Amino acid sequence: MTTDRSADDTPTTDDRPTIHKGLAGVVVDTTTISSIDKATSTLLYRGYPVPDLAARCRFEQVAYLLWHGELPSDDELEDFEHTERSERAVPDPVIAAITAMPRSTHPMDVLRTAVSVTGAFDTGSSDLSREGELARSVRLMAQLPAMVAFDQRRRHGKELVAPRDDLGYADNFLNMTFGSVPDPEVVRAFEISMVLYAEHSFNASTFTARVIASTLSDLYSAVTGAIGALKGPLHGGANEAVLATLLEIGTPDRVEQWLTDTLARKAKVMGFGHRVYRHGDSRVPTMKAALDGLVAHFGRQDLAEVADTLEAAMRAHTGIEPNLDYPTGPAYHLMGFDAPTFTPLFAASRVVGWTAHVMEQHAANALIRPLSQYEGPALRAVPLA
Ligand code: COA
Repeated sequence: MTTDRSADDTPTTDDRPTIHKGLAGVVVDTTTISSIDKATSTLLYRGYPVPDLAARCRFEQVAYLLWHGELPSDDELEDFEHTERSERAVPDPVIAAITAMPRSTHPMDVLRTAVSVTGAFDTGSSDLSREGELARSVRLMAQLPAMVAFDQRRRHGKELVAPRDDLGYADNFLNMTFGSVPDPEVVRAFEISMVLYAEHSFNASTFTARVIASTLSDLYSAVTGAIGALKGPLHGGANEAVLATLLEIGTPDRVEQWLTDTLARKAKVMGFGHRVYRHGDSRVPTMKAALDGLVAHFGRQDLAEVADTLEAAMRAHTGIEPNLDYPTGPAYHLMGFDAPTFTPLFAASRVVGWTAHVMEQHAANALIRPLSQYEGPALRAVPLA
């Protein structure tokens, strides 16, 4: 990032500093949480390839890894799971706040509000110690699933299903949403999506969280802001938009015309492209395999055919590859989630990454405050009254 102090908000100079629109290509800080392996373009959490973590680990192990830097031993995992399971029940005032919102409220707005209310009732929220922030991070990881699950249920006129402490994270999440634990292959596909979504360095929502944390604001404020950033269709909102696209196209024979029209309008095709990966998102093959399993399990080759045809056509027309939201959208649909719940599922996973970054930011804080190049009117006198 430029350190040219003349590039400030005030019209004091004609200097033209380099503008890094969208902060593209700008390195703003160091991190030890995740990276992309240059040779293979593979996402790594604390050095471990994410496809391997998705294949071999449960979400709880990955959360522990992201917060502590190492995978847990058996004893550490047992302790961690005990704590996470004991924190799952959402406090009554938060349930009341969710219930008070119209059923038409977008689930990301519900989730953002629920996290904010949670912070408002936590009398220790201004404790920025690592110990305090870690405890609150585990609590948010444990409670977001109940908030998301309850919101989907109430939109369908159903009662809250209380968390169960005899179930792992993924089984419990699905049980709270659907009232029963689905088949193991469905649970596994869901857990894989949670592992893949958990962290991705300085993406827009994580950077938002770090900006908020950098003012020495609290963890809840950082997560509330991050949820707001994730909602947009250029970020997490894409997984919801992907399903709308596939349903709008309907059948494979309509893909070519739809894509030609969409590209002619210069509109973005949701679920394709990535700021960091220019030759394909390393998480996609793992999630695509999970989606293929769900398609076979539910006998929904019709949906897969539209998705595969669009992917091939997009590659032929633009060379642009799908991102993780492309397979997760239809995967969540097949699992039984309604489309507005897709991005909250992403948030329930990414809260682990956001909070890991808040703790990293607070451990070596510097206020994040970039500069801008002023292009408005030059200095002028205020008209006399
Ligand atoms: N559909 C159509 N064209 C796309 C595209 C998409 N999904 N993604 C990128 N492009 C095109 C752009 O129009 C641009 O073309 P141009 O140079 O002719 O103007 C070029 O590819 C570069 O894209 P740009 O938007 O500048 O890249 P970016 O790094 O700023 O944006 C995204 C990255 C993710 C915002 C962008 O790819 C996008 O909007 N994707 C759709 C939303 C999405 O899936 N988001 C989830 C991300 S994980």
